[in-house]
Amino acid sequence: MAFVAFALPPYLTFDPAQSRIPLAGTPRAYYLLLVSHVVCGSIAILAGCLQIWPWLRERYPDVHRRTGQIYVFAGVLPAGAIGLVIGALTPFGPVLRASNVLLATVWLAVTVTGYRAGRQYRLADHRRWMIRSVVLTLSIITNRMWAVIWVLALVPQLQTTFGGSEALMIQTVAGLSGWLGWVLPLLATEWWMETRGSRVAAKPVPGAAVG
Ligand code: HEM
Repeated sequence: MAFVAFALPPYLTFDPAQSRIPLAGTPRAYYLLLVSHVVCGSIAILAGCLQIWPWLRERYPDVHRRTGQIYVFAGVLPAGAIGLVIGALTPFGPVLRASNVLLATVWLAVTVTGYRAGRQYRLADHRRWMIRSVVLTLSIITNRMWAVIWVLALVPQLQTTFGGSEALMIQTVAGLSGWLGWVLPLLATEWWMETRGSRVAAKPVPGAAVG
């Protein structure tokens, strides 16, 4: 919620001058896609937090089903599809471009797989795929944490490693943060589900079937 409170407001002004990423040279459509992405990404974060809250899931399965539909159809699917497009157009260089496109693809695929498992009442599968999906949704936050760490680590090397090129340094920070932001949490999640696999798979999810 803190992340959304910080990230969302500048884009709700619909003023391109408030964008936190450079828009120079991009068509007007890029800014509109960016705003839609941020709004839908925020819906995914907020709905995703509700979905993984055990108390709500167990007491109010109907709410879980409805918020799940909001998470998938108003959150991940539009935010991921737009993320794929703006990810391929990123001004932050080819390393982040590869990360963005792969992340958007995996995010969409994992979420659709989890949704289908829910519809088919394969609840253990639904749970595991949706855990992966929410971890990828929240990886935008670890991404930003890595960016702070890499800025602190690499700024002192501006004149040495990067030969004075600020653009090269920013692309390096963005590329490292992009990849580390989602790959490490996803690996940690896989490890957690493997080591506690039977518990994660066996725990019933009341009313988890969606739609
Ligand atoms: C997980 C898949 C996601 C992908 C592939 C993705 C991709 C992108 C891309 C490509 C950009 C444009 C900047 C750039 O060129 O790198 C961007 C910006 C942005 N995204 Fe995402 N995004 C994802 C998830 C999210 C989520 C869940 C949120 C939650 C709010 C979010 C919030 C933002 C914000 C706020 C910006 C604008 C930059 C800023 O103000 O910090 N993204 N995203």
